[in-house]
Amino acid sequence: MTATLIDGKAFAAKVRAQVAAHVTTLKDKHGITPGLAVVLVGEDPASQVYVRSKGRMTVEVGMNSYEHKLDADTSEADLLAVVEKLNNDPDVHGILVQLPLPKHLDSDLVINSIDPAKDVDGFHISNVGLLGTGQKSMVPCTPLGSLMMLRDHHGSLSGLNAVVLGRSNIVGKPMAQLLLNESCTVTIAHSRTRDLADVVRRADIVVAAVGRPQMVPGDWIKPGATVIDVGINRIDAPENGPGKTRLVGDVDFDSCVEVAGAITPVPGGVGPMTIACLLANTVTACCRANGLDEPEGLTA
Ligand code: GUN
Repeated sequence: MTATLIDGKAFAAKVRAQVAAHVTTLKDKHGITPGLAVVLVGEDPASQVYVRSKGRMTVEVGMNSYEHKLDADTSEADLLAVVEKLNNDPDVHGILVQLPLPKHLDSDLVINSIDPAKDVDGFHISNVGLLGTGQKSMVPCTPLGSLMMLRDHHGSLSGLNAVVLGRSNIVGKPMAQLLLNESCTVTIAHSRTRDLADVVRRADIVVAAVGRPQMVPGDWIKPGATVIDVGINRIDAPENGPGKTRLVGDVDFDSCVEVAGAITPVPGGVGPMTIACLLANTVTACCRANGLDEPEGLTA
């Protein structure tokens, strides 16, 4: 059996088109342009790439993009002052502080200083609590994108066994919460889990978010299961020439694709959905801020 490929690139383009349609309505009917502010502290090259593509895609869907680039040695007080200004700016509906922050800055403190209604990352402790209690919240982008793909593939997820590999605050924990809210039976596995292969073999849905290249082999996968690979790892690829590298996920694609019912590739799976969901969250935040109906299908 060869698994169906879940095309995250095409799915993300569809989500961005839906977002763009909502932005047009907000502008034409209500005179409101959603705005997303991204704060980048320092010069981490990977973060600079992310921030640039977030800015480009924000503008492409018709929203306003505000970029705040701060020096690597910016003080916590100065960063908090920038966030406070954005909290109070009515043209800004979403705020994202790019992580990781330089070591001298307390990420939790900074994230929790963002107005929860503008926290389009869904990292603020209030949003974590709202999601955990099944209330309306801002939902972290990567889990939201993964959920959208799972819903699209399965329809109802009710009663399915889901195993989430990884317990990060950004992916593993919110993913587990979302799947629980969909009435899945959820197991969170991690580096200390015993008999991991057997745990994964029980799963109808596997979400791999551990950051270890090709960790899950095909013989851990239940035949027909759906595999969502959140990992983005760069590994050496001498087969492509000296010094070459390539991107791989947390699952061993070549063996898993032979067993799974459906699988997301890396690249082109979950990755593109993350920014699409950031844009979706910004439209949702904008609608909520203005007392308007929120877009259907773009929230959890
Ligand atoms: N760094 C890498 N991914 C993300 C993300 O989704 N949000 C934030 N704030 N920082 C990141």
